[in-house]
Amino acid sequence: MPVNICQQLNNAKDLDKASYVSALLAHMTLKEKIGQMSQFNNEDENLRSLIKNGAVGSVLNEVDVETINEFQRLASEESRLGIPLLIGRDVIHGFNTIFPIPLGQAASWSAELVEDCARIAAVESANNGVNWTFAPMIDISRDPRWGRIAESLGEDPLLCSTLGIAMVKGFQGDNLADSSSIAACAKHFAGYGASESGRDYNTTNIPENELRNVYLPPFKALADFGVATFMASFSDLNGVPVTGNSWLLNDILRNEWQFPGALVSDWESIPQLVTHGFAVDEGSAAFEACRAGVDMEMASDTYAKYLPALIEDSQLELKQIDTKVTRLLNLKFDLGLFQTPFTQSTPLTEPLNRAHLAVAKKAASQSCVLLKNKQKTLPLLPEKIASLAVIGPLANDGYEQLGTWVFDAKVDSSITCLEAIKDYVGDTVEIKFAQGLATSRSNNQEDFNQAIEIALTADVAVMILGEEAILSGEAHCRSTIDLPGCQEQLINAIYQTGTPIVLVIMAGRPITLEKILPKVAALLFAWHPGTMGGPAITDLLFGSACPSGKLPVTFPRTVGQIPLYYGQKNTGRPASDDTFVDIDAIQVRAPQTSLGMTSTHLDTHFTPLFPFGFGLSYTQFDYKDIHVSIPAVIIGEIFQISATLTNSGNLAAEEIVQLYIRDLVGSVTRPVKELKGFQRLYLSAGESKTVIFNVHSDELAFYNRKMQLETEPGFFHAWIGGDSTTELKTSFELMAK
Ligand code: BGC
Repeated sequence: MPVNICQQLNNAKDLDKASYVSALLAHMTLKEKIGQMSQFNNEDENLRSLIKNGAVGSVLNEVDVETINEFQRLASEESRLGIPLLIGRDVIHGFNTIFPIPLGQAASWSAELVEDCARIAAVESANNGVNWTFAPMIDISRDPRWGRIAESLGEDPLLCSTLGIAMVKGFQGDNLADSSSIAACAKHFAGYGASESGRDYNTTNIPENELRNVYLPPFKALADFGVATFMASFSDLNGVPVTGNSWLLNDILRNEWQFPGALVSDWESIPQLVTHGFAVDEGSAAFEACRAGVDMEMASDTYAKYLPALIEDSQLELKQIDTKVTRLLNLKFDLGLFQTPFTQSTPLTEPLNRAHLAVAKKAASQSCVLLKNKQKTLPLLPEKIASLAVIGPLANDGYEQLGTWVFDAKVDSSITCLEAIKDYVGDTVEIKFAQGLATSRSNNQEDFNQAIEIALTADVAVMILGEEAILSGEAHCRSTIDLPGCQEQLINAIYQTGTPIVLVIMAGRPITLEKILPKVAALLFAWHPGTMGGPAITDLLFGSACPSGKLPVTFPRTVGQIPLYYGQKNTGRPASDDTFVDIDAIQVRAPQTSLGMTSTHLDTHFTPLFPFGFGLSYTQFDYKDIHVSIPAVIIGEIFQISATLTNSGNLAAEEIVQLYIRDLVGSVTRPVKELKGFQRLYLSAGESKTVIFNVHSDELAFYNRKMQLETEPGFFHAWIGGDSTTELKTSFELMAK
């Protein structure tokens, strides 16, 4: 059999990446180069012959290991050059073992845990031949109507950057060439989370200053960290769809940030440049995307069809193509694919093994946020309860608790709340179950009676409600974010029985809960918790674990408050309790000037229902003695901000300590608070700790009016506490060198 060029290069020992890739490039025809820039869905009927012909650089959505090995064999042994394939898959929050949705993982504020989840997802997907995931999604998300908020790490740039890096570490491991590592992808570059009205794929208008200060920092952080790839967003950014946006993809990503990795389009986003009204036909769409900086086309074939002629006509230069192909071949080299294109048929570790499930349980537990606990309703004490009514469409549904993007989940392995509660209490507590509603969306109240009946005779009603999986995720946006269907009516009906309600909500986004909050004694927000949701929630309900999650996103009172986020600007007329006038307090025919004249709505309070960073515990944490090590800091210096944290309850628990800073005056206005540090700390009952944050003055830098990143001298406030409304405050000055 003739030896192909890759086999020859593999035999030439000790070739470094640059020499290997440039030698390979020198042997490639233009068609073969464009082949490397093309990613095909696994369902393409001509896929095998296309691979053999060198027309495919990557396949997405194939997860059968034998089929993948067959594809790799065709590519590495039967194509002229022998270049192996990138095998892409959306491994978003687990592969076979499903962890909480990313927004849930973000509620753990634990980089360590998020990394562990991604590591397991990498191992399980690598078992099946996947070598590239389209995660993490690091779009700042401040609109809970947007279905993809579920896939996000929340509203804050620091939290999102820190956890995004943790995911990349988990996916990519110490070395991309390890058989358990997969390449990560920072997506969707950039601004997708700002889709107008939270409607997917919608226009985004983000002033450059806001883009640089809020939306880009997570992408910059991941680029600096070494994420292997980027994905361009579907969306239109300030009039130029990102797929054809040379300013974002070339000027910022390549020139300013010097990102060396490959950039993939989103699904068919190149031909969609025509639909956007940005390109006249698919040929010019291919031209715009290639010129702007898209290295690989996902799912469509405009590159294959039109790039050859565009090069021939000299509209595009061959060296542009070579740069793109070099990035893609570099990635294949880094992944070790030239040496080892095949996946072993014996898995690296068994999927869903005990260790994986233990991490899934810990992640589900640490991501749950306790939002209300009237008179210590929780934890439930089995010795004080004779019977429990478990009610709701999500109480016993192993699929719905997994959430969005779970193509490869083993649904049968999910343990539901009902199963786990029964298992936990054994014979000690009588458990009765009524679903009440067929689905979370149902408006049919026929089965309410069964639920009412079991609630009437129970000591406590545990209601497991929320959103089924399909109601969040890509293209699954909502115009209201109340509990869907007639779940509120179900709560009202159970409330009428007089039995106290413990409400557990599983959902892919914040839900507006103001109306139902007074009706429930306790409220635990569990997001979509994944495979081990049931056992994790059960341990929290019965006190075998203590809630420790904190909200990674603000919970509004009503949908009309959106966008509502803690890092807002002060405005010239900030809302305050002194000036706020509620609609019910307005006198008839009162002169308008009586209405406070500040930035509020009349028909809802100006605060959120639950602020960013909020979450209760079964113990009590107190903060005092905030202190700045240097009251007048010189730019360039590192200083410390500290406080004393005490666990004054009688239970050992973890607390997420948060540091916020406000720059009082800037050349562009600054947010009223910005998260600048956080730590998850364990304190035994009665223990006190000094919590110290090291702050470098560079962390106070922001993009100014000239779009330069600068640290401006001036006065600052700093707070340390358990959520973004903390009042434990100090101040310091930053002085020029
Ligand atoms: C999504 C991406 C995803 C891709 C591949 C697109 O519709 O926007 O996030 O990675 O599909 O499945």
